[in-house]
Amino acid sequence: MSQTHAALPWPQLAEARDRLRHIRLRDLLTGEPERVERDVLDLAGMRLDWTRQRLDGAAWQALYALADAARLDQALERQNRGEHVNTTEDRAALHMALRLPRNAQCVIDGRDVVGDVHAVLDAIGNLVQRVHDGSHVGYSGRPVRSVVNIGIGGSDLGPRMVCRALAPLAVPAADGRVLDMHFVSNIDGAALDEVLGQVDPETTLFIIASKTFGTQETLTNARSARSWLLRHTDHPEAVSRHFVAVSTHAERVAAFGIDTRNMFGFWDWVGGRYSVWSAIGLPIALYLGMDGFRAFLAGAQAVDQHVLEAPAAANAAMRMALVDVWNHNLLGACARVVLPYDERLKLLPSYLQQAEMESLGKGVRHDGTAPEHETGSLVWGAVGTDGQHAFYQLLHQGTRWAPTEFIGVAQPEHGLPGHHPILLANLVAQAEALALGKTAVEASAEMAAEGLPEAEVTRLAPHRSFPGNRPSTVILLERLDPQTLGALIALYEHKIYLLATLWGINAFDQWGVELGKQLAGRVLEDFAEPGAGHAHDGATQATIDWLRARLPQ
Ligand code: F6P
Repeated sequence: MSQTHAALPWPQLAEARDRLRHIRLRDLLTGEPERVERDVLDLAGMRLDWTRQRLDGAAWQALYALADAARLDQALERQNRGEHVNTTEDRAALHMALRLPRNAQCVIDGRDVVGDVHAVLDAIGNLVQRVHDGSHVGYSGRPVRSVVNIGIGGSDLGPRMVCRALAPLAVPAADGRVLDMHFVSNIDGAALDEVLGQVDPETTLFIIASKTFGTQETLTNARSARSWLLRHTDHPEAVSRHFVAVSTHAERVAAFGIDTRNMFGFWDWVGGRYSVWSAIGLPIALYLGMDGFRAFLAGAQAVDQHVLEAPAAANAAMRMALVDVWNHNLLGACARVVLPYDERLKLLPSYLQQAEMESLGKGVRHDGTAPEHETGSLVWGAVGTDGQHAFYQLLHQGTRWAPTEFIGVAQPEHGLPGHHPILLANLVAQAEALALGKTAVEASAEMAAEGLPEAEVTRLAPHRSFPGNRPSTVILLERLDPQTLGALIALYEHKIYLLATLWGINAFDQWGVELGKQLAGRVLEDFAEPGAGHAHDGATQATIDWLRARLPQ
């Protein structure tokens, strides 16, 4: 399964890197007229533009040779065949099966799962229908007006991000009103408290979303939500009418007190951070309607097909992965900045942060040995124009650099004149500024033209020049709709798996989150009972003692 990376053409890549070290992006952009044709790809309503990467034709060829030698195509086939690419948990990772059409086939562990997937989609469709036509009523007979999704990580970020991104396309229920969507993830009671203060117990549907149904934060919030509901009514059907679950774990759902007839299932071959396409997407289906949810799945499916079929040079996911290898392993970047120039995509950086950092933050390969190359990088970001007035200074002039990913949408969903051209002009300008920079000579000429005295020009020139040569990728969507958003997310998913393949690591486990969880359990016991007997280092013990004296009983 894992590749022998010694056989991969890293030396050729290092040669390309050393040659390009002395060629600036501004020279590449002017000296290679074929860049636009070569480095822009149109796919499923997206325009992917790598022209501002510090790569020339020969470097791309070296990267394609890497893709070839690492057999990325075979890795995709293995994943698609349902092989257990999640080696440490001995599972398939086949979220692509969730977006297959009803007449397709996909066998996982000897079972064709497409029928199961569509049975759950149909059950979701049934609930969506009943909520929208007002026949699913709460304990007092009133229809649902608010939905509160209680989940965390992959059971929160996907539906939260998608509902926000596609809010302008939300489908009204029969009463003409769009559902009021809320998401609670944080164990901090303030989060749930705030939402409960905004909703009406008679008209609220709680979705308890947890793959394992064992996550402390989610279960604590779910219990508090249930107690809140039961403080308002003693109706015997209150919980069954107001709570549904999304999980792979029917027993725990039943133990919590949710009737498993109100449970929407998924499977262990769906990783949490890849689960937005499963029943975890229930809030999306409720908000956008089933047609919207199915269009979201179809957008992703178009990308699945592309990624499986296209050769490296025409394969968007492979090129994204190869660019990351170039920037991180060859040029030494340790972070990547995701900059959506669209308010609707405000939560995309957080979503990708989990998808990428939980998948690629691994320090051992499949076989338990250390990777030969650095693996996952820090992923962070914010909506672009806000970022410009916050952290772009460092991106432009800092001594460290990070490759950036600009994401824009050609069509706005609002009707306010003037805003959108300004927004997108900023996106284009930032990519240009990072790539080209401004030389001291150019900065001096500008200041001289402004009439600054010569001494001032000399003094300020180093401060007012920009090194440039900072690479970026620009992703532009025709419009933001369920298809294009599905396509965009699927593209990132494939990129993540391909990167993991290149590094020889498992993208689908997350053991790194366990230690903190385990220790939190002990600390909690020590808060409750000082002599609980857990040994801590002196600093930790002192912190526990300090807090224990102050925590509310
Ligand atoms: O943070 C670890 C993690 O397991 C994520 O991978 C997952 O998305 C999240 O917790 C929530 O898990 P669950 O859906 O089982 O509650």
